Amino acid sequence: MRNFIFGALCALGLTSTAQASEDFQADKFHQANCTGCHDSKVYTRSNRRVNSLPRLESQVRMCDANLGKKLFEDDILALTDYLNDNYYHFKK
Ligand code: HEC
Repeated sequence: MRNFIFGALCALGLTSTAQASEDFQADKFHQANCTGCHDSKVYTRSNRRVNSLPRLESQVRMCDANLGKKLFEDDILALTDYLNDNYYHFKK
């Protein structure tokens, strides 16, 4: 019994660190946090700077750093995907 409980706690601990962001919603986060300095027009303007998926990811990291949110890795990737699916459409 003791072992069982210990095992269960361990498993819980692991999932919460590995996926701390299960309820992260890229669209809501974006609307709430990413439209203060620029709106979504910067993603579609003709002279936009991001021109590849890796650049998009690093730009998301940079803007996250500016914002001071310190998003989890998974959330950065989810946000990158969100922008790619909705605006950039780079091939994965
Ligand atoms: C502190 C202000 C600030 C916040 C908040 C911010 N950004 Fe930015 N972002 C910038 C600036 C400045 C640029 C560069 C704009 C330019 O080149 O004219 C930029 C550009 C970008 C670009 C590149 C646009 C292009 O030219 O292709 C992306 C993508 C982007 N931001 C994503 C985000 C995301 C995602 C968030 C929310 C996590 C966010 N930004 C929040 C300041 C901010």
